[in-house]
Amino acid sequence: MSLLIRNGEIVNVGSREQADIFVENETITRIGKNLEVPPGTEILDASGRLVFPGFIDPHVHIYLPFMATFAKDTHETASIAALVGGTTTFIEMCCPNRNDDALEGYQLWKSKAAGHSACDYAFHMSVTKFVVETEAQLRQVVADGTASFKIFLSYKNFFGVDDGEMYQTLELAKRLGVIVTAHCENAELVARLQQKLLAEGKTGPEWHEPSRPESVEAEGTGRFATFLENTGATGYVVHLSCERALQAALAAKARGVDVFIESVLPHFLLDKTYAERAGVEGMKHIMSPPLRAKQNQAVLWNALAGGGIDTVGTDHCPFDTEQKLLGKDSFVSIPNGIPGIEERVNLMYTYGVKRGRLELDRFVDALSTRPAKLFGLFPRKGAVAVGGDADLVIYDTNCKGTLSAKTQHTNNDYNGFEGMPIEGRPSVVTVRGKVQVREGQFVGDRHRGQFLKRQPTHPRI
Ligand code: URP
Ligand code: ZN
Ligand code: ZN
Repeated sequence: MSLLIRNGEIVNVGSREQADIFVENETITRIGKNLEVPPGTEILDASGRLVFPGFIDPHVHIYLPFMATFAKDTHETASIAALVGGTTTFIEMCCPNRNDDALEGYQLWKSKAAGHSACDYAFHMSVTKFVVETEAQLRQVVADGTASFKIFLSYKNFFGVDDGEMYQTLELAKRLGVIVTAHCENAELVARLQQKLLAEGKTGPEWHEPSRPESVEAEGTGRFATFLENTGATGYVVHLSCERALQAALAAKARGVDVFIESVLPHFLLDKTYAERAGVEGMKHIMSPPLRAKQNQAVLWNALAGGGIDTVGTDHCPFDTEQKLLGKDSFVSIPNGIPGIEERVNLMYTYGVKRGRLELDRFVDALSTRPAKLFGLFPRKGAVAVGGDADLVIYDTNCKGTLSAKTQHTNNDYNGFEGMPIEGRPSVVTVRGKVQVREGQFVGDRHRGQFLKRQPTHPRI
């Protein structure tokens, strides 16, 4: 099987080049002008289009038992949504809860994905308790190719770890060379503020943000950084939402702490007024950390443009309207999460690159190359380069559209970005050389996706 992508403008971090890309089997084998190709090669004309490395979403939830229900997607629906939106690899949070056996949880998550994904995937292994068998179990997980951990400082008594468990996880991660991703909110403060607000009769979705204010996220972020500083481990703050938390993370970076920062799609484009809408409309926009006051958005865009924020993920986590209504009597029961795996690339391109907030180079870096480097996928993924996997996105910068639940592939009955115009979309997407999307439609193999085994990469980044 061979494929030629002719005359596109190849965009890599640090370079832009008009050239042909020749793919044999699953790999890019030649890049150059006017390449000669063997008979039988499929030829795709990319003239006038950009060609990006396949985008990588470093933070998604697909199989997720959470808040008395399950996230809506299957690996099939989420991976097709990902591909239509230009994402060719995702890293899913494997999230057994405190009462589950970690290794059984890991096998369960792997079994849910195996053979059911149209794009490639990997996992971050959540550490939701640290008991006698944890070190041996995590060593097995890392040996199996899952070389990143996840901890939650929030979600007390479910996913959350205490400071002692955080210390033990980081100390082990340091010895293993594994990066630790962290949800940074102070669990005790969230629990206390929730109780206080409910006792005052404040039960609607508009009280979710006041129950986990910016100071609560800043404290969690700062504490995580302090623990990194004192263990020497490498960390990654997930879904950072606001200026105060950003200041805490950047201050840690400035004093040499090995910490990286992710923000996620909703925080760049939506603000807390979405969650303040009446009834279920507000509930649709409940996530943690919550949507913030609008002035945070410019701060996040600037930090992303300057590289202070390293990556943009989605925290894709779809719950439908009926599930959101589990919280109709109390905001603490609204399942947290919003989908985004399908929208991330087009929205960040439209409202970042096209609006002049983000250089094209940084866009590719934050949505593909940096996640690949941080999580042990580079150079196989994250660049258009000879020897790399032929995960390619031929991007039509002239295509205009409007986001809607009516046309989405994500398995949900609403779209958190409903009605937003986009200017640009993938026309062709390949996964290891196979065309999976043509003219914006999924046309490929629903089972093509492979589990990506990764080596520990830290502190060798
Ligand atoms: O609200 C969110 N973010 N839901 C998914 C779970 C998590 O915290 O990442
Ligand atoms: Zn989280
Ligand atoms: Zn998450």
